[in-house]
Amino acid sequence: MRLVPWTPDDLARRMDDVLSVFGEAMSYQPPALAVRRGYISTHLQRPHFRAIATVSTAGHLLGFAYGYHSEPGQWWHDQVSAVLDGPARQRWLADCFEVVELHVRPSAQGHGLGEAQLRALLAMTPAATTLLSTPEADEQASRAWRLYRRTGFEDVSRHLLFPGDPRPFAVLGRSLPLPFPQP
Ligand SMILES: CC(C)(COP(=O)(O)OP(=O)(O)OC[C@H]1O[C@@H](n2cnc3c(N)ncnc32)[C@H](O)[C@@H]1OP(=O)(O)O)[C@@H](O)C(=O)NCCC(=O)NCCS
Repeated sequence: MRLVPWTPDDLARRMDDVLSVFGEAMSYQPPALAVRRGYISTHLQRPHFRAIATVSTAGHLLGFAYGYHSEPGQWWHDQVSAVLDGPARQRWLADCFEVVELHVRPSAQGHGLGEAQLRALLAMTPAATTLLSTPEADEQASRAWRLYRRTGFEDVSRHLLFPGDPRPFAVLGRSLPLPFPQP
């Protein structure tokens, strides 16, 4: 398997595979994935869009990650900005790359692919900081949380409720660069 940087067009061409990985990783059903197809399509146009894919030797998509420069006027940026005080907003959002999605097919999880994708993605941005949001969970029991803590992500905001989603989220961040390849 190999890590492959993707352009927006590359991701658009593999959108069905991306949604398949997304659906398996998050246990989302087709109606939720249809909504995601729309979101992802608009994200492809965002500034400094970067994406990375893990592809098997047979060409199957095993995982993907993408993000873009976080800027005022973007829904997520504005939600996070609203709960930060002035110094925190300046520290985290002045020059920030948002990790929007990071997923590995369940059959391929547990072998370090998620960490490799995260490091490769963050090596593609010159931004000063990175932020992401993830559902609140038991940090020791959640593979995503273990990954974020292992790679140095710290709490930026906890138990945040985004409009339209009943789940509390944590916003986690770290300064960049994050070494790649992993030490
Ligand atoms: C979160 C997610 C992306 C992590 O990807 P992953 O490939 O499963 O996980 P990692 O890269 O962290 O590696 C998993 C394990 O392999 C180990 N590992 C790391 N490098 C390794 C390597 N080179 N070889 C073998 N194992 C390795 C890690 O120590 C880790 O151990 P842990 O499970 O005890 O923490 C993936 O599990 C996923 O898609 N989950 C569902 C969707 C999700 O939660 N996405 C994030 C939403 S915010």
